[in-house]
Amino acid sequence: MPATSGTGSEASPNAILVDDADNQKKGIISPYLVPDIVYVDPLLTISVPPAITAATGIDALTHCMEAYTNKFAQPFIDMMAYEGMRLIAAHIETAVKQGDNVEAREKVAMGSLLGGFCLGPVNTAGVHALSYPLGSMFHLAHGLSNALLLPYVMEYNIPSATKNMQKWL
Ligand SMILES: [Fe+2]
Repeated sequence: MPATSGTGSEASPNAILVDDADNQKKGIISPYLVPDIVYVDPLLTISVPPAITAATGIDALTHCMEAYTNKFAQPFIDMMAYEGMRLIAAHIETAVKQGDNVEAREKVAMGSLLGGFCLGPVNTAGVHALSYPLGSMFHLAHGLSNALLLPYVMEYNIPSATKNMQKWL
């Protein structure tokens, strides 16, 4: 049961932990991390403060964007990534500004879940790869470090844009 709309961990085989030995974020990827049953209730996110709603929402958006523009993108996952981007882009601002707006919370929660489904088959890319050390070194929230990097990594990727990314150019 996710209490934020961001990580997508309710549907992914990924877990990220900070290793105290070297202060680095490290990933564990295993099919055993994928739950048999997921219960997503957007009412659980109503009390999430605006800054955390924004940061987690950007994380979810980044999962979808990095899956959609990924060199390993595939049509079935593209559908979830695209719908996740659409839902989050359309509703994240309302969810941040009006935390008790159930419709906005529901749409962002669905977008986050869809982003979580993308994490196994396609996974993330440069934004997340750079975000982990940034977050570890400066103790930034994961969504915030993603937000800082997202425009620059996407711009950097333009010369080698995938077919899906070329649709945006
Ligand atoms: Fe993430």
